Amino acid sequence: MLVHIKDIVKKAEKGKYAVGAFNVHNIESVLGIAQAAVRAHSPAIIQVSESTIEYMGVKPITHIVSTAAKNIAAKVPIALHLDHGKSFHSVSECINAGFSSVHIDASEFPLDENISLTKNVVSVAHAKNVWVQGEVGAIVGGHGQVSGFVKGIQLAKLEDVIEFVRATHVDTIAAAVGTAHGVFKNEDIRFALLKKIVEKTKKTPFVLHGGSGIDDLKIKRAIREGVRIINIGTDIKVAFSKTLIRNCIKNKKETDPRHLLKPTIKAVENVVYKKMRVFGSAGKA
Ligand code: 13P
Ligand code: ZN
Repeated sequence: MLVHIKDIVKKAEKGKYAVGAFNVHNIESVLGIAQAAVRAHSPAIIQVSESTIEYMGVKPITHIVSTAAKNIAAKVPIALHLDHGKSFHSVSECINAGFSSVHIDASEFPLDENISLTKNVVSVAHAKNVWVQGEVGAIVGGHGQVSGFVKGIQLAKLEDVIEFVRATHVDTIAAAVGTAHGVFKNEDIRFALLKKIVEKTKKTPFVLHGGSGIDDLKIKRAIREGVRIINIGTDIKVAFSKTLIRNCIKNKKETDPRHLLKPTIKAVENVVYKKMRVFGSAGKA
């Protein structure tokens, strides 16, 4: 069922587990996540990036997610969230479309500009009962990249995160703590920084970006430190694309797109199901 993100996150806070925020790119990834949520009996956040909106249109993706939540995942809570909204325009588009949460990512700007843009979004979003995620310290990398080292991982400054949360009243907070978008050898979680941020911003659930490529033990430790949402994008892209490529090579003469695409739904389901078990959200729906 489609619910407000706060219902999912508040329960995760109480139960001290994390909920996956899974990026979708097409209808197959939505179906795979919905099926995983049912199989794991787990809540899930389905998140849409600006590039997915560009690809499918905000209305089609909103309706696809809502329909999957209502019909496939009727008995488990699913929330719809905008991931890395870069402008007031895209955030407003999603608020108007019925998302219950939006991420305004102005982390590349100086702190005062980040605060000011985020505050504007918070005032518009809260008036419509929509949650806002803010971000301090840009998270580098590229979704879908899966090898080598990434340059320029920077860490958010603790004082900046405290000031940002205090000034903006965001509902969830993302900050650069050593992970990157994609899977890289040099990404990691700086636990000392994460711990301090969580301690000082206790009432604002922490969102870990760049969840792909971080080993399960570290993810579990981050959850013990208080992480409540974990973003997973690259692992879903990779599962989808590898399966599709393999299936196309094996069935070069196939002309029915459904036969070519069907295994990708299961591949996404399997990846997401495993994450739900690691995050502790399995069985919590
Ligand atoms: P990964 O692609 O590393 O899983 O990161 C996802 C993410 O942070 C989406 O905002
Ligand atoms: Zn991210």
